[in-house]
Amino acid sequence: MKFQAMELLFGKNTPKQMIPKVTLLAVFAILVFTITPLSYPLFRNSSSSLKKNGSNNNIPSSTFDDLNESTSLPSTSVKKCDIFSGEWVPNPKGPYYTNETCWAIHEHQNCMKYGRPDSEFMKWKWKPNGCELPIFNPFQFLELLRGKSLAFVGDSVGRNQMQSMICLLSRVEWPIDVSYTRDDYFMRWKYESYNFTMAAFWTPHLVRSKQSDLNGPGQTGLFNLYLDEPDEKWITQIEDFDYVILNGGHWFTRSMVFYEEQKIVGCHYCLLENVPDLTMYYGYRKAFRTAFKAINRLKNFKGITFLRTFAPSHFENGMWNQGGNCIRTKPFRSNETQLEGLNLEYYMIQLEEFKNAEKEARKKGLKYRLLDTTQATLLRPDGHPSRYGHWPSVNVTLYNDCVHWCLPGPIDTWSDFLLEMLKMEGIRSAQERLRLDQD
Ligand SMILES: *[C@@H]1O[C@H](CO)[C@@H](O)[C@H](O)[C@H]1NC(C)=O
Ligand SMILES: *[C@@H]1O[C@H](CO)[C@@H](O)[C@H](O)[C@H]1NC(C)=O
Ligand SMILES: *[C@@H]1O[C@H](CO)[C@@H](O)[C@H](O)[C@H]1NC(C)=O
Ligand SMILES: *[C@@H]1O[C@H](CO)[C@@H](O)[C@H](O)[C@H]1NC(C)=O
Ligand SMILES: *[C@@H]1O[C@H](CO)[C@@H](O)[C@H](O)[C@H]1NC(C)=O
Ligand SMILES: *[C@@H]1O[C@H](CO)[C@@H](O)[C@H](O)[C@H]1NC(C)=O
Repeated sequence: MKFQAMELLFGKNTPKQMIPKVTLLAVFAILVFTITPLSYPLFRNSSSSLKKNGSNNNIPSSTFDDLNESTSLPSTSVKKCDIFSGEWVPNPKGPYYTNETCWAIHEHQNCMKYGRPDSEFMKWKWKPNGCELPIFNPFQFLELLRGKSLAFVGDSVGRNQMQSMICLLSRVEWPIDVSYTRDDYFMRWKYESYNFTMAAFWTPHLVRSKQSDLNGPGQTGLFNLYLDEPDEKWITQIEDFDYVILNGGHWFTRSMVFYEEQKIVGCHYCLLENVPDLTMYYGYRKAFRTAFKAINRLKNFKGITFLRTFAPSHFENGMWNQGGNCIRTKPFRSNETQLEGLNLEYYMIQLEEFKNAEKEARKKGLKYRLLDTTQATLLRPDGHPSRYGHWPSVNVTLYNDCVHWCLPGPIDTWSDFLLEMLKMEGIRSAQERLRLDQD
């Protein structure tokens, strides 16, 4: 309940949004944006930073000299580096906004306002092994997304990401509120000069769910999840979106009763007689499966579906409701921790369901992409509000918040990832176009 109050979402209903039309101009913009500012510096950087030693150097020496050979152009560049594995490195230039320059920071993530004493956590950037991940360029982002729409579908960490993006984009433009309801869980924002729309859809379980008891065995509420029914609040609204970013996880740790075909099939920690405990992982897997299936079934959906993988929380010395806290002030190095337990399980389930869904989607010409933030996020125990998400005297259930992320903070990097992926989309289309031209 209280936790829910923290989860104030933003978002709103649907519009008759847009059918993405690839105009000549857009194609041109994509080409300009990908080939020029992206690939060029990308290759420059990487060839200078990588040791040019024979076998491990698979970067073509003159990638753009031989445009003739379309396949040599982007495939090598796209493959050469996994942007999602790497380390956090100091970035004295950060952050790129503050709580004074950006009004979009959610109250509970405005850590500086509530007295967080350290500020180092805002001064890191992600360095993938073997290449560079450019810092988010808001001008480029908005140019690429001109005339497009983007939906965040999931829980409050998704909203957290959207607010981070609004702050990052504020160097270029503030959006106007074009929400269809006054419901904060469903906000819709428009960047007028770019005709770009961004929306959030609050759906903590992705499938239809109902709180049936405020307490339940774990004193954290008992939820009925209808595992084979996608939550209408988002699935009926996303058909016209060009990009949909799906996420979910933290709500699946609470007590749940699972329904399929409207009958109880089991539960997670419900302690009901004759109801088998199928574990939270059962519900988690089914929820994603249902969400993906529903997307694949949409008649007119032409967008790209991103799965933003699970963002680990960092409670230490206790669970979230047992005095656990997150008081570190520095990132982990990748050799200091590893994905395990619930984090690993959630992540693997997501990957498996994603892969299966992607295979199905491909038959329909739909694209799926993995916004694989889990590893980078795992390494940031220092990025949470902890007790600086509210005044000390305030009685909130999630007193030490080690789930959400301070803004500015580590999840600003998720926008770095997203932009890089969108630019790669540009490369892919350029590649496809070149192929078509040659045929
Ligand atoms: C804005 O973009 C949508 C597609 O996303 C398009 O239908 C609409 O015509 C555009 N409006 C303007 C003014 O360009
Ligand atoms: C690169 O190659 C040079 C000469 O072949 C060799 O001396 C050097 O140790 C190599 N460096 C690495 C990092 O392999
Ligand atoms: C173009 O590429 C093909 C193979 O991809 C190669 O056989 C041909 O020689 C190339 N032409 C030029 C002018 O480089
Ligand atoms: C921003 O944070 C400072 C502390 O760094 C605080 O004094 C101020 O009230 C905050 N401003 C807003 C608008 O949250
Ligand atoms: C992790 O790697 C760093 C740098 O490579 C090294 O200095 C550190 O000792 C390693 N830590 C552990 C726990 O292995
Ligand atoms: C905080 O709230 C809970 C339930 O809402 C209540 O049981 C508890 O007594 C409150 N604590 C204080 C210090 O007010």
